Amino acid sequence: MTTTQAAPSTDALQFPAGFLWGSATASYQIEGAVTEGGRTPSIWDTFSHTPGRVERGETGDVADDHYHRFREDVAIMARLGLTTYRFSVSWPRITPQVTADDLGPVNPEGIGFYSDLVDELLAAGISPSITLYHWDLPQALEDAGGWTSRRTAERFGEYAEVVAAALGDRVPLFITLNEPWCSAYLGYASGVHAPGRTDDAAALTAVHHLNLAHGLAAASIRRAAPTSRVALTLNLAWVRPQTDSPEDAEAARRVDGLQNRVFLDPVLKGAYPADVQADTAAVTDWSFVQPGDLDVIAAPIDVLGVNYYSPTHVRHWTRERPKEHADGHGEGKASPWIACDDVEFPFQHGRKTDMGWSIDPRGMTELLLRVAREAPGCEIMVTENGAAFPDVIDANGRVIDTDRIDYLRGHLAAVHEAIEAGAPVTGYYLWSLLDNFEWAWGYGKRFGIVHVDYNTQVRTPKDSALFYADVIRRNALTR
Ligand code: FCB
Repeated sequence: MTTTQAAPSTDALQFPAGFLWGSATASYQIEGAVTEGGRTPSIWDTFSHTPGRVERGETGDVADDHYHRFREDVAIMARLGLTTYRFSVSWPRITPQVTADDLGPVNPEGIGFYSDLVDELLAAGISPSITLYHWDLPQALEDAGGWTSRRTAERFGEYAEVVAAALGDRVPLFITLNEPWCSAYLGYASGVHAPGRTDDAAALTAVHHLNLAHGLAAASIRRAAPTSRVALTLNLAWVRPQTDSPEDAEAARRVDGLQNRVFLDPVLKGAYPADVQADTAAVTDWSFVQPGDLDVIAAPIDVLGVNYYSPTHVRHWTRERPKEHADGHGEGKASPWIACDDVEFPFQHGRKTDMGWSIDPRGMTELLLRVAREAPGCEIMVTENGAAFPDVIDANGRVIDTDRIDYLRGHLAAVHEAIEAGAPVTGYYLWSLLDNFEWAWGYGKRFGIVHVDYNTQVRTPKDSALFYADVIRRNALTR
């Protein structure tokens, strides 16, 4: 709407000049049009169409119909005053005939869709940030092994080069991967995400091939779009041991290794953590790491994207009591936590979102400060943060989502605190612009600051959207 910012007020938490205010989405969660524009199936099409995988059997076939309504959606972003927008490119729209051995031809309609979106954003004064992979792997690649195959990483590097060459003149930031933790462990160990496999060795193989894919894509972006910046987005955990006991500290070490260090260390230090390799030695010998891979993975990045929603509480588990798992992946189900049989995720009292995730903004500050310490010189952006609540449209057509506003207030204050303490955080992307297809939860969980009526596709900005627009206009959080 406007790029002029209101005068600073003294009782407000003022953000640095030029701070980027955005919102984030992902292709499969909003686009719909899954058979249009030459697109071929991704693993999420297959998964969501498999009975029992997604709540109520819902799929992303239509989602928010953003593929057809992107101009309306950009107009909403402009009215809110967003200065940047993070979206993902659906790989099967770009190279629909990809196989494990060959990227196949580039689909002009696929490139065209994202090119039009980029132009629409730029015309509205909104800076586009592209995520190259937000989980919708072409099904043909999964059929040939998916992320357990090195060839998937190689094809990803080539696909990244295609997108960077086509859009790099207009896109200042490319994010290679979104949350490889989810792709590897939820996709291949617990099986709650596509492709739904439950094989610990496959999941650790996927971890490495995702890291390699990031490195190959980073190099592609440098070649094809030399003026664009390169980022990687991780869902890092703020791991809290339940007590000061050495057993709980050990539980925290294991979870920290699998969630944080197995992704951070290869990129920042060019090595896998020795303790994680030792912990998982019975599962795999890590021979999938080939000479030279770590050099590729460790190439410098410009921005580290951090997604934060909730803290991770851990406790040592003994067989004397049933195992708890605060986010629902408890005993009896396959676990994403490999070699963590003696770790549990104890139930936490206190405020929760509709996902059952504990609300704890302190974790955001602590996590950003840790990343700042461990990645000196690397700019940080919060590439996702937000909350699901059971919103309702009231009789006046309004969504009064006070819970979400409180969540955002707390977390924006936490980001501000981290900046004050020295963390080089330059932007914040709220998850999410629109209510959308929340993966295995389907449409039941609403994360948007804009309500979507899935019958009519009518968009209604919630009160949180107006709150966020005010923060953006002031470049500050008023108390
Ligand atoms: C993150 C995902 C995003 C969305 C939010 C709620 O893990 O990156 O697509 O599902 O969680």
